[in-house]
Amino acid sequence: MPGVLADRVAIVTGAGQGLGAAEASALAAAGARVVLNDLPGPALDRVAEHIRAAGGEAAICPGDVAEWSTGELLVRTAVGGFGGLDILVNNAGVLRDRMVFSMSEQEWDTVIRVHLRGHFVTTRLATAHWRAQSKINNRPVYARIVNTASEAFLLGSAGQPNYAAAKGGIVALTLATARGCARYGVRANAICPRARTAMTGSLMGAPPDGPDPLSPARVAPLVIYLAGPAGERITGEVFVAHGDMVALLGPPTVRAAFHASGDQWTVDELDATLGKVFTADPPQPGFVCSETLPLAASTLGED
Ligand SMILES: NC(=O)c1ccc[n+]([C@@H]2O[C@H](COP(=O)([O-])OP(=O)(O)OC[C@H]3O[C@@H](n4cnc5c(N)ncnc54)[C@H](O)[C@@H]3O)[C@@H](O)[C@H]2O)c1
Repeated sequence: MPGVLADRVAIVTGAGQGLGAAEASALAAAGARVVLNDLPGPALDRVAEHIRAAGGEAAICPGDVAEWSTGELLVRTAVGGFGGLDILVNNAGVLRDRMVFSMSEQEWDTVIRVHLRGHFVTTRLATAHWRAQSKINNRPVYARIVNTASEAFLLGSAGQPNYAAAKGGIVALTLATARGCARYGVRANAICPRARTAMTGSLMGAPPDGPDPLSPARVAPLVIYLAGPAGERITGEVFVAHGDMVALLGPPTVRAAFHASGDQWTVDELDATLGKVFTADPPQPGFVCSETLPLAASTLGED
């Protein structure tokens, strides 16, 4: 959809490579001026140069996305340098995979910090800007947030308790933002992507000869769509996206509700009631959504 984001200004975090670089390039190709963040290093310059070489406009704000000052610089660069802020794509992330019983404090803190605090800092500063603009103009603003969650939060990925918790937190943050900022015009959604990147290369292996079904570029159109005019009607949603597939997740549902025979439950009555439900031996985690796994079959070539 070239031009669909003409005159829009977008921030993309973690834009130095992988999904962030693909999303930033696609936003620029759709007409947006992009403010790019990643850790300091040549990767960010390369993405900005690639965008400029293709005729786009890009500014860079290197820094740790979980730092307040980085968030301030991003919003200041968008508003001061490009004249506004319309789109925030929170994407930066790291892995420190370890079973929960072996995980260090630092491995926990790093992942929660970069993903969850990293999403919060930019969201906090961007929504404050949008709320102020909305109050000044006495009408809702154009404001889109696309957050990056992961199927790990649905599955309770055993070797990634820090990552699964951060991604679950990002979904909750997305919903709270969507509900809390709707009146100002903010639309906030989350995507659970899959792509062959530095983060997943060892898991997914080398790309095939020819087009890669797991190319990060295949996730980017959904980001453009949510960031674009049609995204006005979409908020508080969670999508899974990879290859040729986009899935819209449903919310958790109440599986069953039980009532005590008197005013409140006794342990014996709970046992008599719930004991009939939980009969599997050994028990399996129940609050798990694995329905997205078969959706990957065509992308992963397993069908
Ligand atoms: N690739 C997948 O299949 C997949 C699946 C689910 C979710 N995700 C999510 O997508 C996002 C992008 O992942 P990717 O696969 O492109 O990984 P990637 O490692 O290629 O890119 C992540 C980028 O984030 C940057 N980054 C890390 N810490 C940062 C910090 N503190 N401040 C600023 N930038 C920082 C890295 O330098 C890197 O450029 C992540 O949030 C990841 O959890 C990816």
